[in-house]
Amino acid sequence: MKKLIQNQKEVFINQLLELLKIPSISADPQYKDEVKKTAEWIKNALNDIGCTTVKIYETEGHPVVYGEILVSESAPTVLVYGHYDVQPPDPLELWDSPPFEPIIKKTDLHPNGAIFARGACDDKGQMFMHLKAIELLVKNKSLNSNVKFVIEGEEEVGSDHLEKFITDHKSMLQSDIILISDTGINSIQNPAITTGLRGLSYMEVTVIGPNRDLHSGLYGGTVANPINVLCDMIASLHDQNRKVNISGFYDQVVEISEQELQKMNENGIDEKSFKDSIGIDAVMGEKGYTTLDRRSIRPTLDVNGIWGGYTGEGAKTVIPNKAHAKISMRLVPDQNWKDISVLFEKHFKAIAPAGVKVEVTTHHGGGSYVTPTDSVAYKAAEKAYQQVFGVVPHAKRDGGSIPIVPMFEKVLGSKTLLMGFGFDSDAIHSPNEHYGIDNFLKGIETIALFYPHFTALQKQLKP
Ligand code: BES
Ligand code: MN
Ligand code: MN
Repeated sequence: MKKLIQNQKEVFINQLLELLKIPSISADPQYKDEVKKTAEWIKNALNDIGCTTVKIYETEGHPVVYGEILVSESAPTVLVYGHYDVQPPDPLELWDSPPFEPIIKKTDLHPNGAIFARGACDDKGQMFMHLKAIELLVKNKSLNSNVKFVIEGEEEVGSDHLEKFITDHKSMLQSDIILISDTGINSIQNPAITTGLRGLSYMEVTVIGPNRDLHSGLYGGTVANPINVLCDMIASLHDQNRKVNISGFYDQVVEISEQELQKMNENGIDEKSFKDSIGIDAVMGEKGYTTLDRRSIRPTLDVNGIWGGYTGEGAKTVIPNKAHAKISMRLVPDQNWKDISVLFEKHFKAIAPAGVKVEVTTHHGGGSYVTPTDSVAYKAAEKAYQQVFGVVPHAKRDGGSIPIVPMFEKVLGSKTLLMGFGFDSDAIHSPNEHYGIDNFLKGIETIALFYPHFTALQKQLKP
């Protein structure tokens, strides 16, 4: 397999570079046609690798691309999920090269080069590994599982229309395992299989004061200033131990045993390199937990944006009529994102002082997910990683969210295996996003090796 990949690597990389040139920004309606073009590109790519059925499904949002290769009714079936949409690239001025003109550069962590482009790692580069792994297995006449691809265009905006798609196509999407590469590993020397994702609850709040912007000399000191009030309210959302100060917030949290925590922290975060990599001199978070705990198994609350009043050049003395903030909460098992959104709304309204009105809206959300580690799929993945990386991968719970994963389990009844190959330092969602060439090639190899192990183990289970 390694040899096959070496022979094809230039071709595979060039194909990925083509895909990365299309700006499939799902959040921005101006890019609707580009998103569509990307769906067409994926459709053609699925045809090229030997899918027998390929179809673009229109939704009320961006299209879903579906493809399948059915080798035999008795063979196990793998459903591959990925997303072809990307985050907006701004702020553009912080990119060293344009986000949709991919280039390959070497970095300290990627001595064999990395592809710099929006979507390189999240998720075009990672999704594309699956197409190439299947292409190799087909060419090699060694594909022994059925494969179904669901590649969507709305992951970065909450997968709003995918639930309907999977509900409407339940029987078409039946599988023994769902396979996703949209998470990460710590390093090539110490790879991991992701076993957990956090949930998410994304809110927006508005604090409304006087009926118009006021002169801050004539009125300052006499009325509730919405920005001052919003800052007070936000500050009160954490207590002195940096726990989220919303009553009931932790009620559904399943505490992890000391033993499990200890095991998890054997592959902990090196605090010095963590701090250095993001240019800070101290970490901050919930008291009593490590940095790894804080970003994987503990729920959090963060302000993502805050605005209001005068933000133009120079100074303007004004008390604004409104202040706004976007606030997200990362959730862990068994917190229910809808319950948490309601809890947040009630709490935020309750703490508003007299003199202001508060509006709260929920944007989107999704559940957390923990994958089993005793499954056939996990064991097959472990074997594949071991062959490629030379070590047994450790299990790692990630801090990010892929809301469709718990939804797949609810609607389709299938478990997911998260085989991601990105590094945290690959700058997903940030300027200069990149994806290592080694990560890409080793990912293809690991995925290709997963299939024979999975089929063999699955046949032992269900001969
Ligand atoms: N691929 C990421 C999620 C991710 C990244 C999980 C790294 C684990 C490790 C995904 O594309 C993403 O960005 N998800 C969003 C949620 C979505 C609803 C916008 C997130 O986590 O913020
Ligand atoms: Mn992603
Ligand atoms: Mn993302």
